Amino acid sequence: MKDLTLDNMTDVVISSIADTEDPRLKEVLSIVIRKIHEAAIEVQITHAEWEGLMNFLLAAGNISDAQRNEFILLSDLTGLTSLVDLIASSSSPDASERSVLGPFYVPNAPMIESGGDLIADNEGDPVVALGRVLSSTGEPIPGAMMEFWQNAANGQYSNVDPTQDDNNLRCRMLSNDDGSYEVSTIRPIAYEVPDDGPGGEYMRATGRHCWRPAHLHVRVHADGYEDLVTEVFNTLDKYIEEDAVFGVRSSLAIPFNREPTPDEQARFSHVASPFHMVDFDFVLQPLG
Ligand code: BEZ
Ligand code: FE
Repeated sequence: MKDLTLDNMTDVVISSIADTEDPRLKEVLSIVIRKIHEAAIEVQITHAEWEGLMNFLLAAGNISDAQRNEFILLSDLTGLTSLVDLIASSSSPDASERSVLGPFYVPNAPMIESGGDLIADNEGDPVVALGRVLSSTGEPIPGAMMEFWQNAANGQYSNVDPTQDDNNLRCRMLSNDDGSYEVSTIRPIAYEVPDDGPGGEYMRATGRHCWRPAHLHVRVHADGYEDLVTEVFNTLDKYIEEDAVFGVRSSLAIPFNREPTPDEQARFSHVASPFHMVDFDFVLQPLG
């Protein structure tokens, strides 16, 4: 019988998964097991600390349900989600960078025409977001399915706020023949991620706050291109340098305060003045 020791335990466990058929699963598991063992040995983990970790994970499971996945929040707050985005974006350097989907995406939002309005009865500063959907090879992409969602003047998203209509400040629209899009909305505001579970416990223990800088979520799909999930951030927000979930990239951040031109003022005369412009082009990577 072979003795299990601090020196051989990791190799013994990795050998135990030698029959894993899926080669990618085997590679990932071997590396993850090795790193977890290394970390446990490096910090000389105690029983009490191990039990604390198990209870922390249990609490994350207990507070999760069909609407809330605390493990994704923990992934967001520890930068893992953004690492996944950065790895994916590194293979398409000419496309728009990706950023976190977040927990407030809802599929099948109402379709509106480009130029349509999301403001309706919402309070807040009116803005018109506009730009184009382009290929990373430079051509405009007509008919791209764009999905927009954002928070309301109270900071909340409609799917977790009973005071809002289900589809408030959400829409889908197709880009125009020249790839352009336009939508009038309100300026999103800074927002605190849910802090009533293990995610919040982690943030308090590490002396961090839960704020995200104001952002507009956008998802773009066009046949023949990689899907893009991203966010556009307002550089004028006080939390722009300290996003709780590490989603900000300088390529995704602009000031949400451009004055409209006289032509835009006339074209968007249905939007209450004063309003500001948010210019952003979304660049997609061709598949393959
Ligand atoms: C958000 O975009 O609002 C969000 C993203 C990640 C975690 C929590 C909230
Ligand atoms: Fe958000």
